[in-house]
Amino acid sequence: VEIEDHDEQVLHGVVVAGDRRGRQLGYPTANVEIEAEPPPDGVYAGWLGRADGSSHLAAISVGSRPTYYGRHGERLVEAYLLDFDDDLYGEQVTVRLGEKVRDQVQFTGSDELITQMRSDVEAVRALGRPL
Ligand SMILES: Cc1cc2nc3c(=O)[nH]c(=O)nc-3n(C[C@H](O)[C@H](O)[C@H](O)COP(=O)(O)O)c2cc1C
Repeated sequence: VEIEDHDEQVLHGVVVAGDRRGRQLGYPTANVEIEAEPPPDGVYAGWLGRADGSSHLAAISVGSRPTYYGRHGERLVEAYLLDFDDDLYGEQVTVRLGEKVRDQVQFTGSDELITQMRSDVEAVRALGRPL
């Protein structure tokens, strides 16, 4: 039996290919295609669970990448896994959303986004606790 925090949302989906921009930015993300309606836009601390039972601390972005797509982007759930360097494409995964770190922002360019993601990761590390 699994006991979940009241403020923790659990999503299930398959990791699909993104634009591969994340890799260039230094923050490669697993784009998780979920069947359900995505949770509200924002950046969250959370965990990505794999079929092998492992669970990985992640900075999770829910939103439409306004920096690159303005108001017309597709809403995505993307997870940047901390201390992780493996291929997740095609895997069925579980995403647990913990605390919200901030809202989505339309930055003026990649440099501003990268600077913000660096501090997001610090915030996630501070919030993260092993499951
Ligand atoms: C921790 C984190 C925070 C993010 N915050 C924003 C944001 O505020 N604004 C934005 O436009 N995109 C944000 N993104 C999404 C990035 O734009 C996206 O990951 C990047 O463009 C790579 O996209 P791709 O996976 O499709 O290649 C964030 C991503 C992460 C991992």
